[in-house]
Amino acid sequence: MALTVKRPNGTMDATPSEVYKWHTIERVAKETAEQFGFREIRIPTFEDTGLFVRGVGDTTDVVQKEMYTVSSTGDKTYTLRPEGTAGTIRAVLENGILNEGLPQKVFYILSCFRHEKAQKGRLREFHQFGCEMLGSASPLADAETISLASSVISRLGIKNVELNINSIGCPECRAKYRQALTAYFEPHREELCDTCKERLDKNPLRLLDCKSKEDQEIAKDAPLITDYLCDECAEHFEAVKKYLGIMGIDYKINPKIVRGLDYYTRTVFEFLTTDIGSQAAVCAGGRYDGLVETLGGKATPALGFAMGLERIILTMESQGCEFEEPEGCELYIAPMGAKAADTATALITELRDMGVYAEYDLIGRSLKAQMKYADKIGAKFVIVLGDNEIEQRQVNVKNMATGEQTAFTIDDSFAERLSDFIMASIVEGLDTEGLIQ
Ligand code: HAM
Repeated sequence: MALTVKRPNGTMDATPSEVYKWHTIERVAKETAEQFGFREIRIPTFEDTGLFVRGVGDTTDVVQKEMYTVSSTGDKTYTLRPEGTAGTIRAVLENGILNEGLPQKVFYILSCFRHEKAQKGRLREFHQFGCEMLGSASPLADAETISLASSVISRLGIKNVELNINSIGCPECRAKYRQALTAYFEPHREELCDTCKERLDKNPLRLLDCKSKEDQEIAKDAPLITDYLCDECAEHFEAVKKYLGIMGIDYKINPKIVRGLDYYTRTVFEFLTTDIGSQAAVCAGGRYDGLVETLGGKATPALGFAMGLERIILTMESQGCEFEEPEGCELYIAPMGAKAADTATALITELRDMGVYAEYDLIGRSLKAQMKYADKIGAKFVIVLGDNEIEQRQVNVKNMATGEQTAFTIDDSFAERLSDFIMASIVEGLDTEGLIQ
């Protein structure tokens, strides 16, 4: 097939035969978030470009290289959201949600757009399940947020994921750390990649996140943020670790985690797996106590995380985790002839209103072709409806798994009895005697 237009590089389709995997993850994520008291928020796909420049940070790769920005008219530009946090905080502030009491806890499932080099687990349009909590500066909130992410991951049956945590301090201790990093890297300036030369001037913390082998080698002995934390930040980090211990959540302290977005303060974390190629984060987040104020709100501590749903699916597939199978067709009616087709149409309408998943012939195919189709869609019961059946007001309902046929009289209560019979047969153990006539 020579399609004239194909999907853009770095995007994916979720076909009907695969979409149940998404539904499984979305249901578990939503239910777990709600159990922790998070409520769903929905925000626009695009925002004023300035929101991300201010919120995510103009020295980040995301803002500098990866944003999809369009200009509509004049000089105003809009950007497809590269992540969910900035838009969510904007929406929380714009809708006065903080006035409803603190903490405010919201979650979202949305698409994000980053112009990255597309590869396995790295897309240009990808999806995130994210949670944001506003109004608590307590380290218990950090542990609670991590615990929510960890619960979603384990309820999906995912194993071999390592939680890495770090503290990148507050603006005061970070300023000292920046100086120490600059002093360390400056003598190596000429050996660094071009991006890192720039990072050295603008945001030296980002040097620790460089993917280049040579730069990683240089960064190996760089000073560690954990040695520069002020007393309050160090105390906060200790308390987060204590609460994670109480919650029974395993973690590794990784002082090299700096995160790619500028808004973070204090606790940062990543859930890492090696099951989908080279080490990848399936979930990441942290505290961002300054973001609400940066976006024009009253200073409010906040924190959150986001999970990459494509990476979650890849991990689940590679680990053979189970996905919930979709509801299949419960009844297929194969009419033969015009009169039977009319009866089937009326019957299907009634059955669907009673909650039965039912299908019938929409193409005018032969009985043989219809039976093949019923088999393909996995119909649990099949009725063949011909002139004979209608005349004698008697029909057989065939159980496709056992081959067993059950005779029903076609009368005013037929649809109701049939619906009860199908429901009872599907919910095993229910008595179907008495539903047949
Ligand atoms: P992030 O680390 O940029 O953080 O992204 C979070 C997660 O989204 C990653 O761990 C990964 O699973 C997934 N992800 C990121 N980029 C891609 C991509 N190109 N293709 C596929 N998956 C990807 C944030 O976005 C923050 N907003 C998280 C957060 C929420 N922090 C506080 N609250």
